[in-house]
Amino acid sequence: MKTHFVCQNCGTNSTKWMGKCPSCETWNSLVEERLDGGGDQKDSISSIRQEFRTDTVSTLQHKAHRLGDLNAGSKPKARIQIGISELDRVLGGGLVSDSFVLLGGDPGIGKSTLLLQMANAVGDRHRVLYVSGEESVDQIRMRATRLGVTPDSQIFLAGETELEAVFHLVREVKPEILVLDSLQTFSSSQIDSPPGSVSQVREIASRLMTLAKSAGISVWLVGHVTKEGSIAGPKVVEHLVDTVLYFEGDEGMSFRLLRSVKNRFGSSRELSVFEMDGEGLKEVKNPSSLFLSERPTPLSGTAVTAIVEGSRPILVELQALVAPSPLAMPRRTSVGLDHNRLSILAAISERHLGISLSQRDLFFYVVGGLKISEPACDLGAIAAIWSSFKDIPLPKSSLFLGEVGLTGEVRKVSQMEMRIEEAAKLGYKKLIVPKTMTDRIPKSLECEVIGVSHLNEFAKRFS
Ligand code: TYD
Ligand code: MG
Repeated sequence: MKTHFVCQNCGTNSTKWMGKCPSCETWNSLVEERLDGGGDQKDSISSIRQEFRTDTVSTLQHKAHRLGDLNAGSKPKARIQIGISELDRVLGGGLVSDSFVLLGGDPGIGKSTLLLQMANAVGDRHRVLYVSGEESVDQIRMRATRLGVTPDSQIFLAGETELEAVFHLVREVKPEILVLDSLQTFSSSQIDSPPGSVSQVREIASRLMTLAKSAGISVWLVGHVTKEGSIAGPKVVEHLVDTVLYFEGDEGMSFRLLRSVKNRFGSSRELSVFEMDGEGLKEVKNPSSLFLSERPTPLSGTAVTAIVEGSRPILVELQALVAPSPLAMPRRTSVGLDHNRLSILAAISERHLGISLSQRDLFFYVVGGLKISEPACDLGAIAAIWSSFKDIPLPKSSLFLGEVGLTGEVRKVSQMEMRIEEAAKLGYKKLIVPKTMTDRIPKSLECEVIGVSHLNEFAKRFS
């Protein structure tokens, strides 16, 4: 029996066991796995290709094609409109009929709920097969009833954990959409390693990919994100699938963010927001309102800025607290903004706004649990730090946009128009922007525009 050792963290192969993976340097992550699986080669990749292949696939195989000829005879890819507009948007305008989608997220975040709601939304027009390796059919049925699944929908439920059994069900039901919940619970009988190991996960993903492309079925795969070494996370199959969606959210908060990190059929970095309540997930059509705290009078230590996620602008509130520190090494704590970025912004503020943070703790928080990484938020973050230090509230309904360099200059941001429009829509009438961009703001918005080219202008203006 031939075996090899596979790192459960990064998937590196090795012929001998090692305590530390040479590639990702994780300790104790190499696990022995059999190379040649037992059993027959039923449902192997080539047999799946043979059995399920459609006419378009078979005519295109084993030949090189001139791009011009292909373009001439092609139709745009068919997309299924799910009917949950936030989900359609993240997918780039609906679900492509032979796509392979990976939905990752922490356990309990709402992945099964989302997919059941998706099945419900398309179930009256398309056949859906929902195979769960985690819950019994009756459990899913109960949840589906609670989520209001209509009686005439064509949703088929099954509880299975073996991949070969899933293929059998696919032959029987002939679904247009296949959901597998979750990647870590399925295993192929042809591979002699436990469910969730790198070999299993890879094998399952590549066979499902072949199924999706040959039979024109849209396959959804749920993957739990775990920190444990023995369970291969969705990262291992990310390169293989067409679309990778991550479902995120903070514990204790009811809203959930659905983010596309890879999409072969649309823009990645697209973001949708849902809210979880007793009746499942609801779409949040105007997410900006969610990330702004409501208060009648302005307070010190907070500033509003606008980020762009995919094709959507979102206003976010940034909060800073500067407080005297008893420690020799004052704390710099940040939630939602990269720690190094915060240190840089603090240093820039010290140098160019003349505030001393050396004996003060600095706490930074992005309201609502969003993570920001765009340089366009720099000016907003510095404004919040400055406002907390001086204990001077920033003007009501003001929005800060601008990248700040180490020299203190305020520089241009991308997609300015989109951010400004969103701000104006939500009643932000005072816009603090890079001076070089003031002429880009349409007069029709009736906003007061303040252009700043350097931080020292900012300090003079608001002191
Ligand atoms: P679930 O979809 O099972 O999570 P996952 O598949 O990602 O592990 O969702 C689990 C959580 O969602 C659970 O804590 C209960 C909550 N929930 C609601 O609050 N309302 C609902 O209508 C449903 C179905 C679940
Ligand atoms: Mg689940």
